[in-house]
Amino acid sequence: MSDLSKDPVYIAEDLIAQDIDAYLLKHQHKTMLRFITCGSVDDGKSTLIGRLLYDSKMIFEDQLASLEHDSKAHGTQGQNIDFALLVDGLAAEREQGITIDVAYRFFATDKRKFIVADTPGHEQYTRNMVTGASTADLAVILIDARQGVLTQTRRHSYLVNLLGIRNVVLAVNKMDLVGYSQERFYEIVKEYSHFAAQLGMKAFLPIPISGLAGDNIVTRSENMPWYQGPTLLGHLEDAPINVARMQDEDFRMAVQWVNRPNLDFRGFAGQIGSGTVQPGDAIRVLPSGKTTTVKSIVTYYGTLDRAVAGQSVTLTFADEVDCSRGDVITRADAPCEVADQFEATLVWMDEAEMLPGRPYLLKIGTQTLTATVTEPKYEVNINTLEHLTSRTLALNAIGVVNISTDRAVPFEAYAKNPDLGGFILIDRMTNATVAAGMVHFALRRSQNIHWQALDIDRDAHAAIKNQKARVVWFTGLSGSGKSTIANIVEKKLHAMGKHTFLLDGDNVRHGLNRDLGFTDADRVENIRRVGEVAKLMSDAGLIVLTAFISPFRAERQMVREMMTEGEFMEVYVNTPLSVAEERDVKGLYKKARAGNLKNFTGIDSPYEAPVAPEIIVNTVELTAEDAAEQIIAALLAG
Ligand code: ADX
Repeated sequence: MSDLSKDPVYIAEDLIAQDIDAYLLKHQHKTMLRFITCGSVDDGKSTLIGRLLYDSKMIFEDQLASLEHDSKAHGTQGQNIDFALLVDGLAAEREQGITIDVAYRFFATDKRKFIVADTPGHEQYTRNMVTGASTADLAVILIDARQGVLTQTRRHSYLVNLLGIRNVVLAVNKMDLVGYSQERFYEIVKEYSHFAAQLGMKAFLPIPISGLAGDNIVTRSENMPWYQGPTLLGHLEDAPINVARMQDEDFRMAVQWVNRPNLDFRGFAGQIGSGTVQPGDAIRVLPSGKTTTVKSIVTYYGTLDRAVAGQSVTLTFADEVDCSRGDVITRADAPCEVADQFEATLVWMDEAEMLPGRPYLLKIGTQTLTATVTEPKYEVNINTLEHLTSRTLALNAIGVVNISTDRAVPFEAYAKNPDLGGFILIDRMTNATVAAGMVHFALRRSQNIHWQALDIDRDAHAAIKNQKARVVWFTGLSGSGKSTIANIVEKKLHAMGKHTFLLDGDNVRHGLNRDLGFTDADRVENIRRVGEVAKLMSDAGLIVLTAFISPFRAERQMVREMMTEGEFMEVYVNTPLSVAEERDVKGLYKKARAGNLKNFTGIDSPYEAPVAPEIIVNTVELTAEDAAEQIIAALLAG
């Protein structure tokens, strides 16, 4: 976090600014504070940021250049840019930034360097604010002194607290418009204290300011002699940085890569997340739990006697202990936890709603795993903090869920260590980041349930039946012919003495899945259960045939991954919508077109055709009988 040169935002800036080297040289020994400003344009956010940039007089060259360009038109030059113009420029830039994500701004004083994350304050930009806050050491929550604590103040404070920002400034702005009233200031502070206590926020620093007039921003205001605390910039310069705090915690380092330039050297590289390390320290590698001692700490510039949180180093071990990317190295006597099920808070960041049961990629520490999310235990109304029941999470929604991962990971509660407790979820098909998450604690559920090794395994079950276990997965629109063809395939296999079982959508939905309807979430759960049943049946040595629309690639992929290599055979029954609708065997298309059947596949619910199925059946050209022959030939050949 503290390593400036590793920061992508910084690097981008680096490319633009021409005298960055000189700049870095001058400032490299300063610490850097990242902070976020929360508030809306009405609260005077642009004015405040403009004031900080303007008064600190350390705006980057490129910002100056663009502003100079604008200001020339207004008859001013260079450093003498007009303050109002600067503020307008910032506001316009942020508006553009909305679609990108977060606008980051840089400035520095003689004491410190700063990165401000500037995000819009409206509820529909919750995800932007979460992104900006996720790396911040401090938050400035802006309040208009005339308005007091508003719904948006509560929302911003909730998010800041959720993301674990401990250093909060309550900037009561526009004090000039309330006659610099001490009474008004304390009234607001009192109201906010009440709310902060409700949130569990431990402390905050209230500062009365005027962004426009410059009161208590850089210099102490003569208009408010009753205020004895620090100025905003003074506080920003002195506030502790998270990395400093992290040095007091236990040693943790997530391994980014294994450094093996030759056979004599094997080191484990990463950034120290918390604590300190020295050669000779007894350490433990998780999840394996193997222990050894640190032999040396290597960096590009030579070996170190001690390294601290924030530093990127390579550790070598005294013994040959297995350790790879994604593992976490801890102190031997103070390891972190390892689990594969968690309770966590999720902030949903995608247009497509969360689907319980769908596999997503989960990135935590330096690891990427596959994970599924349960239905929310509750959703939080971020304006009122009420808990709501909800079956899913839409864009910007926040909820508490259980997560289960495909393997155990070392982790810590987010509140203790954001590096090992914060994660993101990624959609496997679109690669979009769909959620940010914060681990609360591990669920002990599966801890005491061990997989029972059975003597009669799947191969034994299949061998006695003289066959190989298979899962033949039919997918296609309703009325495409899945059940008809699957039925013929089963009859033929049966006649050949094969042991089979056909799972059919309409039938399974009368029993096992009778509680499920046709929303996206229910279809995901339908396929998850059918996948598990198909897996059990194939473990029993059967040739399993399934006939479900199974409209989503993600779930078909998930089922494929549950089976052993070569066992899963995806059959795409490719009947065009117009043909299926024309046939309309069950009269359902007619109903759906008339608006009497909601969420009907192909009409108002999507179907994602397979990209690389093992077999494509063309039911327009082939009879069902021919299609069945085609499938059996492929099945027996495989
Ligand atoms: S899936 O999408 O979850 O895989 P599944 O194959 O189990 O669906 O069930 C599909 C069958 O349910 C269809 O063949 C049809 O007979 C019936 N059905 C009832 N309502 C719908 C609907 N809204 N969309 C699709 N199929 C429906």
